[in-house]
Amino acid sequence: MKNICLNMERFSLLAFIFIPITFTYGFNGESFELECPDECDCHYFRINWVTDCSESNLTEIPYDELSMSVYILDLNGNNITTLKAFPGDIKMRRLQIANNRLTRVDREAFKGLEYLIDVDLSGNNISYVDPEAFLDSRGLLNVELQDNPISVVDGPFLISTTLQYLDISSCNLSEINPQFFDNLTSLTTVDLSNNPLKTLDGSVFDVLTSLETLKLNDCKLTTISESVFSTSINLKNLELAGNQLSNTNWPELLGKMIRLEYLNLRKSGITSLSEDTFSNCTNLVTLILADNELRDLDVAAILGSSVDHLELLDLSNCKIQGPISGEAFANASRLKSLYLSGNPLFAPDLQEALEPLPKLERLFLSNCGLRNLPDNFNVFDNLQELDISHNPLVNVFTKLLAPLEKLEYLNMGYSNLSYIGPDSFSKMTSMKRLVLSGNDLLSLEAGLFGNLTQLTTLELELCGLKRPLNANVFFKNLTYMDLREIRLGGNPLVIPDSGPVFPKQLSQVTILDLSNCNITSLNADAFKNTENLTELNLAGNRIKSEYDSLSFLERLHQLEKINLSNNNLTTIDPQVFVNNPKLHSLNLIGNPFVCDCKIAEMWDWANMIKGNLDVLIGAKSAERDIVVKGNKKKKHLYCHYNETQLRNMSLPINKTVPGRRPFMKPRELSFANRTWAKYVRESGCEPVVKILRPVALVAELFDFNDGHISSGTIVLAITLATTTIVMTLRLFRRRDAPAEDTENNRKLR
Ligand SMILES: *[C@@H]1O[C@H](CO)[C@@H](O)[C@H](O)[C@H]1NC(C)=O
Ligand SMILES: *[C@@H]1O[C@H](CO)[C@@H](O)[C@H](O)[C@H]1NC(C)=O
Ligand SMILES: *[C@@H]1O[C@H](CO)[C@@H](O)[C@H](O)[C@H]1NC(C)=O
Ligand SMILES: *[C@@H]1O[C@H](CO)[C@@H](O)[C@H](O)[C@H]1NC(C)=O
Ligand SMILES: *[C@@H]1O[C@H](CO)[C@@H](O)[C@H](O)[C@H]1NC(C)=O
Ligand SMILES: *[C@@H]1O[C@H](CO)[C@@H](O)[C@H](O)[C@H]1NC(C)=O
Ligand SMILES: *[C@@H]1O[C@H](CO)[C@@H](O)[C@H](O)[C@H]1NC(C)=O
Ligand SMILES: *[C@@H]1O[C@H](CO)[C@@H](O)[C@H](O)[C@H]1NC(C)=O
Ligand SMILES: *[C@@H]1O[C@H](CO)[C@@H](O)[C@H](O)[C@H]1NC(C)=O
Ligand SMILES: *[C@@H]1O[C@H](CO)[C@@H](O)[C@H](O)[C@H]1NC(C)=O
Ligand SMILES: *[C@@H]1O[C@H](CO)[C@@H](O)[C@H](O)[C@H]1NC(C)=O
Ligand SMILES: *[C@@H]1O[C@H](CO)[C@@H](O)[C@H](O)[C@H]1NC(C)=O
Repeated sequence: MKNICLNMERFSLLAFIFIPITFTYGFNGESFELECPDECDCHYFRINWVTDCSESNLTEIPYDELSMSVYILDLNGNNITTLKAFPGDIKMRRLQIANNRLTRVDREAFKGLEYLIDVDLSGNNISYVDPEAFLDSRGLLNVELQDNPISVVDGPFLISTTLQYLDISSCNLSEINPQFFDNLTSLTTVDLSNNPLKTLDGSVFDVLTSLETLKLNDCKLTTISESVFSTSINLKNLELAGNQLSNTNWPELLGKMIRLEYLNLRKSGITSLSEDTFSNCTNLVTLILADNELRDLDVAAILGSSVDHLELLDLSNCKIQGPISGEAFANASRLKSLYLSGNPLFAPDLQEALEPLPKLERLFLSNCGLRNLPDNFNVFDNLQELDISHNPLVNVFTKLLAPLEKLEYLNMGYSNLSYIGPDSFSKMTSMKRLVLSGNDLLSLEAGLFGNLTQLTTLELELCGLKRPLNANVFFKNLTYMDLREIRLGGNPLVIPDSGPVFPKQLSQVTILDLSNCNITSLNADAFKNTENLTELNLAGNRIKSEYDSLSFLERLHQLEKINLSNNNLTTIDPQVFVNNPKLHSLNLIGNPFVCDCKIAEMWDWANMIKGNLDVLIGAKSAERDIVVKGNKKKKHLYCHYNETQLRNMSLPINKTVPGRRPFMKPRELSFANRTWAKYVRESGCEPVVKILRPVALVAELFDFNDGHISSGTIVLAITLATTTIVMTLRLFRRRDAPAEDTENNRKLR
């Protein structure tokens, strides 16, 4: 056994040396036969060529360095002020220039962009948009222009027969002229939020017969003409939060919206709603009425008999002056989530009102002045979350919880509890998920969780706990077979210098959150009793790059995800992950890494050994960064040069290092922070180990075993060979990808 273990280490080391041989074509993780501007990182996203020049201090677009096959061009967060024409043959699909300093959108700049699908121009200084700007883009689907001082638009805003998604929120528009949408008839989603519109008149949306989602939050609306949505029969989602709509004729306004599924009227100055308000909205699923003054609300009457699809009803902070009638929710038997937080309520009323809601999954009774709880909570077979936080429940605790014997999910978070008696949960043997986060508990009573033998998830975030879970809060010698997830984030834990952190009872735990726990180090045996962890969150601690500081990883053979972001790591060696073969997600963002060649090693490790740069979170654009409404500002992996390094630095130009793409243009380093991607390119760091002859390597592997070839070795050798073949195939598939892609697209169009 020991021999195999030794071999294992040896194997990983060998694999590390060996596999790069097939990858001399790679740079920054991908093959580079497509052109890439010097300042940018380029890679494939699925089969598409991404040119990522975001946050690179550019003042103009590197037009003449772009590949004609660029699929996504990301220029977010630069200093670009003007746009010129793109090269005629470019096949760009998505153009992102958010958070720059553009002032105009002219036709010239987008001329000939026939393939363009998505444009993100948000967060600029744009005051003029040429309605004909996208005439050539005959497949245009999405345009983002939010956060620009557009202010005034005369006539049609844009001309596009295909555009489906338009975000023009926060554009200081005070009026939507009658022709505004005339030539955008395919729109399905429009966001007009946070424009000072004040009124909505007549027929502006009439041409938008495909409209499904309309957002008009915070538009200072006081009057909405009754006919404004009269042709919006396809509208499914309507948001009108944060306006002053006390004088609205709701039955007329909503009367034609028979397909409406989601309606948000939060904080809209509504004081009363008549009985027929929603009578034609028979498909309503979510209704948000929170933060209105519905003092004498008769819930039953408002919901009427037609809202029988309603699943979520939010009546938080509505100053409802009970009693809620017994029939209040009689018509809402499908209701899954009910928010009554912030209304003064009494237990007996609740008991009656909630009776018809057996399907309820989430009930929010936070801050309701409840001194007692209804006796009938055991009728809720499906209740997942009962939130009774912020109620004056403190002293009579145990008794109050007594009726909750059948409860499976209880959220008592943020309830100012400083003590929980040892018997509090002794009868709640069905409990699966217990949330006690946000209470200043400091310590836990012996036996507190003893009877919770069905527990799957325990959340104790921000509880001021110093000692991680003690053995004595559980039954002695009992393994909690179902307990899989423990969340202890935000506790100032004191970790022992040696020995396991958690007791044996928790040996089945797979997900452990220890983020923001003031941890400076974890000993090698820290997870001895919880060595089957698959997900470990250690973000926001103070773990350093000292010798052995990550040795706790050696035990975690099942580990798949680890979050080490925002710690105090200055360097990291891929060798520390040698015993975590299943690892597929490593987050190192926000550490004070020094720019050294270990970073290039990590890069090669992700790319060659793991076969996927995505393993290293922040190494390149994530999927969520390159979609509509994606992250405008990315979380990159950074390293920094120290002052001495910076002063003595001369960047290698045209230096060819196997596996890296060199810079072509002379450049100077003026600032210390580099993304890992850029650093790996400019560093000139050699690939880790010199290329060795594979045959010699395998021979060495066998040799190591003194002539006896153990089955372990054979398995390892086969694995090694297979990996190489698979990865070689991968590489070739990727290199073929762009041609295939353009071919497909040509066929499509
Ligand atoms: C843009 O330029 C200004 C000054 O020229 C500079 O202060 C600012 O940091 C630049 N912004 C970016 C994102 O590079
Ligand atoms: C951006 O470029 C300007 C000059 O073009 C320079 O003054 C500034 O320091 C640069 N900022 C960064 C963050 O590199
Ligand atoms: C814009 O819409 C108006 C009204 O439907 C129509 O008369 C006009 O021809 C359209 N313009 C273009 C360029 O499609
Ligand atoms: C509600 O729907 C009915 C039948 O579909 C229709 O006759 C009535 O006019 C609608 N109400 C409003 C206010 O549009
Ligand atoms: C729960 O624990 C208490 C002691 O805390 C014990 O008396 C009781 O029998 C246990 N079991 C059940 C099902 O309540
Ligand atoms: C727990 O198990 C150990 C060894 O298996 C035994 O010696 C000890 O008495 C047990 N304790 C209890 C409380 O059952
Ligand atoms: C965090 O740990 C340090 C010692 O490592 C200690 O001095 C400090 O008080 C702890 N912080 C908190 C909030 O407990
Ligand atoms: C981890 O899982 C394996 C297989 O399921 C099991 O044999 C082993 O005992 C587990 N480890 C612990 C500490 O429970
Ligand atoms: C990080 O480590 C350095 C020394 O390596 C130390 O000076 C610094 O205080 C640490 N930072 C934190 C937040 O613990
Ligand atoms: C800066 O980095 C160089 C090279 O890595 C190193 O020799 C030097 O000690 C560092 N200086 C400081 C002040 O950390
Ligand atoms: C680097 O090589 C490219 C092409 O091989 C050449 O155009 C460029 O001038 C070279 N740069 C320098 C600084 O030598
Ligand atoms: C470098 O980045 C870190 C965060 O990653 C930031 O705190 C620091 O201010 C940056 N330094 C410079 C010189 O830009």
